[in-house]
Amino acid sequence: MPVSEIAGNEGTAARIASGIGELDRVLGGGLVPGSTVLIGGEPGIGKSTLLLQAAGGMAAAGSRVLYVSSEESAEQVRLRADRLGLAEQAELFVLSDTNLARIVEQTRRVSPSAVAIDSIQMVYLGDMAAPPGSVTQLRRCASDLVFLAKATGIAVVLVGHVTKDGQLAGPRLLEHVVDVVLGFEGDRSHAHRVVRAIKNRFGTTLEIGLFEMGGEGLAERPEGALGALAAGHASRPGSVVCPVVHGTRCMLVEVQALTATGFLGAAKRKASGVDSNRLAMLIAVLEQHAGMRLADRDVFASSVGGVRVAEPASDLALLLAIAGSERRRGLPTGTCAVGEVGLGGEVRAAAHFEQRLREAMRRGFACAIVPRESAGAGPSGISLIGVRDVGQALEHLSETPASL
Ligand code: TYD
Ligand code: MG
Repeated sequence: MPVSEIAGNEGTAARIASGIGELDRVLGGGLVPGSTVLIGGEPGIGKSTLLLQAAGGMAAAGSRVLYVSSEESAEQVRLRADRLGLAEQAELFVLSDTNLARIVEQTRRVSPSAVAIDSIQMVYLGDMAAPPGSVTQLRRCASDLVFLAKATGIAVVLVGHVTKDGQLAGPRLLEHVVDVVLGFEGDRSHAHRVVRAIKNRFGTTLEIGLFEMGGEGLAERPEGALGALAAGHASRPGSVVCPVVHGTRCMLVEVQALTATGFLGAAKRKASGVDSNRLAMLIAVLEQHAGMRLADRDVFASSVGGVRVAEPASDLALLLAIAGSERRRGLPTGTCAVGEVGLGGEVRAAAHFEQRLREAMRRGFACAIVPRESAGAGPSGISLIGVRDVGQALEHLSETPASL
């Protein structure tokens, strides 16, 4: 059949939006009817909360949703719905069952726009000897559900548990079967949560959604963990703010580093939320081009708020954070940094430069350390300090960070 004659239903069929902007954007605008989405995440991170809130949002917008819990009783789901303020949604249906045949039958009866299965690991098909959660069960149950989605046009959302190291007996196995794979991440001891697309047949995988877990479920945090504090935040040694770009949007992220006494030949380099290869590279650059001795220093680096910072454009911020921690110096308050650092110690231009500076300005930053070649290119309203190499950049670290 010529491609032009195939009905373009993915483009024209209305997506089912949850009304949770941070989630809908990652999905590419909402759930595509007839598609299957897998949400993976560690136990306890908030997958059920997110899904029930999304289901409630869809129900509130008039789409019928069936929420199937294979782990909790209907009463437990009701309690959670109460807590999330969703108990009055007439279009939100709840089923507690683990038998896939019954789940499919109920789904056909309720005839919802979307069905959520929380979690796929606890669902089983009675005609198979393998236990729930086993590879055979997972594969069969998932492909049956994908078939159900395709045959009925119902959007299916599956929850899958992932273990800490990502080595799970679940989601990885199912990634190629489903249309969209989302990862729900965060640190259970902190409130921030990030949804990211790992695979998306209907949109980009560059977008991320930012949330904070609170007493009333997940609240959207489109500005990131820095919140309104941004500009006043950066005056500590070892902490530098950098505007990072994720998908269509730019947000400010605080990059932190700590240097401490270590052992020559066995110094630790630990990265969390920043790229460990770039961390190693920046330490080498500081040693070679800024005369800093770090061979016997442990170096820890992280990004605050769960947003992963892997862009080369954040090199300069991370480098200034490491050097600042080592020398106990910080950037002046209200100053951020943008730029890529080369192996020769040179500071190079970063992509999306103007977008980054506009965001920094909007969030109250008055000044930015930037590559020399870009110093004339920014928006007016933020003063730019151009630096050619890391040596020049380090001159802007001061012992007692000036206040604005
Ligand atoms: P849950 O959604 O059950 O996680 P998962 O389905 O990924 O296993 O949520 C886990 C945690 O979230 C739980 O320890 C309690 C906390 N939580 C809140 O802090 N606020 C809330 O409103 C809800 C519903 C849960
Ligand atoms: Mg759960």
